[in-house]
Amino acid sequence: MSFNNKHWILGLICLSLNFSAVAQGDAEIGKLKTMGCMGCHGPTGNSFLPNFPALAGQPSSYIVKQIQDFKTAGRHNATMTGFALGINEADLNHIGAFYESQVKTPVIKNIPHLKTDSEKTALLTLGKKLYDNGNADTGQAACFVCHGSNGDALVDLGVPVLANQHPRYLISTLKEFKNRKRTNDGERVMRRIIDTMSDEQIEAVAYYSSYLVSTIEEKK
Ligand code: HEC
Ligand code: HEC
Repeated sequence: MSFNNKHWILGLICLSLNFSAVAQGDAEIGKLKTMGCMGCHGPTGNSFLPNFPALAGQPSSYIVKQIQDFKTAGRHNATMTGFALGINEADLNHIGAFYESQVKTPVIKNIPHLKTDSEKTALLTLGKKLYDNGNADTGQAACFVCHGSNGDALVDLGVPVLANQHPRYLISTLKEFKNRKRTNDGERVMRRIIDTMSDEQIEAVAYYSSYLVSTIEEKK
């Protein structure tokens, strides 16, 4: 076999394994590039307020995709679009690598609008049922199929971490899939599911997800 043929076959193998030619980011450079992000996302990607998503431990590829989507309008948020437009393409992988390497601190576990423990338990029980089993009556797919039973990321399929994310952010972004402010889910994977869900069901899965503990984070 000639040298060229070998390269061609290697190329095919790489394509079929979905290897991308994306350069590895440098977390140290990334850290320097996130000075302007700290005010909301915290110095280590652990945001202070529950409406700002935690970025620590989120896969680099997911972070990079979201920043690109804010720039190109698949995802609408006045604040983040402004910041995304200010990020140089060459720095994207470094920023992603920095956040991916950070450890997530526990978010506050509370369901502030519910007063009694039994109401809270009922909501989390509903959340677990919908997350693990889906809903045969409405055709809602179970979340665990893509997000895993622990809310871990599935990097090859572009699935983000849900475990230990601020529930307020999860509720807000899920509702944005429903009202089409967020349309950057390829093949409408999230929109198809969320369209079948009521606001109460969305809150239940969001709180349940935020209580999950990612197995990947535990190993760090
Ligand atoms: C003024 C506050 C603020 C600042 C500063 C800020 N962000 Fe954000 N960021 C937000 C908010 C709010 C959201 C959620 C937007 C939404 O719901 O669509 C967000 C979302 C994101 C997401 C998507 C997270 C996910 O789970 O999908 C990424 C990635 C991100 N920001 C990166 C950055 C980077 C990098 C910087 C600095 C260059 C930055 N942000 C600066 C407020 C901020
Ligand atoms: C078929 C696979 C699949 C299923 C099933 C699925 N998701 Fe997703 N989910 C995704 C993908 C892929 C993304 C990333 C979309 C993007 O690129 O912005 C995502 C994104 C999300 C986000 C946004 C996270 C963030 O940080 O902004 C939330 C929240 C979410 N899913 C919750 C759920 C819940 C709750 C369920 C069940 C009711 C569910 N998902 C079922 C594939 C899936």
